[in-house]
Amino acid sequence: MMRGGPVIAVDGPAAAGKGTLARRLAEALGLPYLDTGLLYRAVGRLALDAGQDPAQPAEKFAQALTPADMQRKDLRTPDVALAASKVAAQPAVRAALVDTQRRFAAERGAVLDGRDIGTAIFPDADVKLFITASPATRALRRFLQNGGDATAADAQTLLRDMEEALSARDRADASRDSAPMCVADDAHVIETDTLDAQAVLAEALRFARERLVAS
Ligand code: DC
Repeated sequence: MMRGGPVIAVDGPAAAGKGTLARRLAEALGLPYLDTGLLYRAVGRLALDAGQDPAQPAEKFAQALTPADMQRKDLRTPDVALAASKVAAQPAVRAALVDTQRRFAAERGAVLDGRDIGTAIFPDADVKLFITASPATRALRRFLQNGGDATAADAQTLLRDMEEALSARDRADASRDSAPMCVADDAHVIETDTLDAQAVLAEALRFARERLVAS
């Protein structure tokens, strides 16, 4: 497909820092940014609103998805994350969302974050990054992001629950048949356990510029 600019794929497990990185990368390179997880979250939300088990066929929600559905404020809850992972395992749901993602990048290129951007949506992406961190680090980051107090008496229990929920969702996303989360052969993996957001951005920009100059 002819594109008006570079495509940068940012994949990885939940709460690894993909969103923060992808947004900053897009800003630094002057590219549009799409959080593709929001597509699956919006479909999961619509299934829940309809009183449907998200594991049941949900393609009608994906086919009818509107921009307003993706801008809803209630897409970031744990129940919606789980519903998103369940609808995302359905090939018909994924198929219904492919064109939206490809069209988004057609005019000016884009930075997209998700699970299958570099493997299934844009296997020919100019730059592929895979952002990851240990489950414990990711649980702590998500806990603090949600306003959690790490010194509270129940913090250890809450962190353990969070880590278990993230790990269960990762296992589901990585083991499904349809476009499972995995590292593309030509992706640059960045482990973020010991890096802050600034350092992750610097490393991603270094790699992206090297690839973009070479292409
Ligand atoms: O990135 P996120 O946590 O908002 O994504 C929510 C769920 O959506 C995730 O558990 C799996 C699914 N997803 C996907 O299958 N493919 C993508 N490109 C993005 C998200």
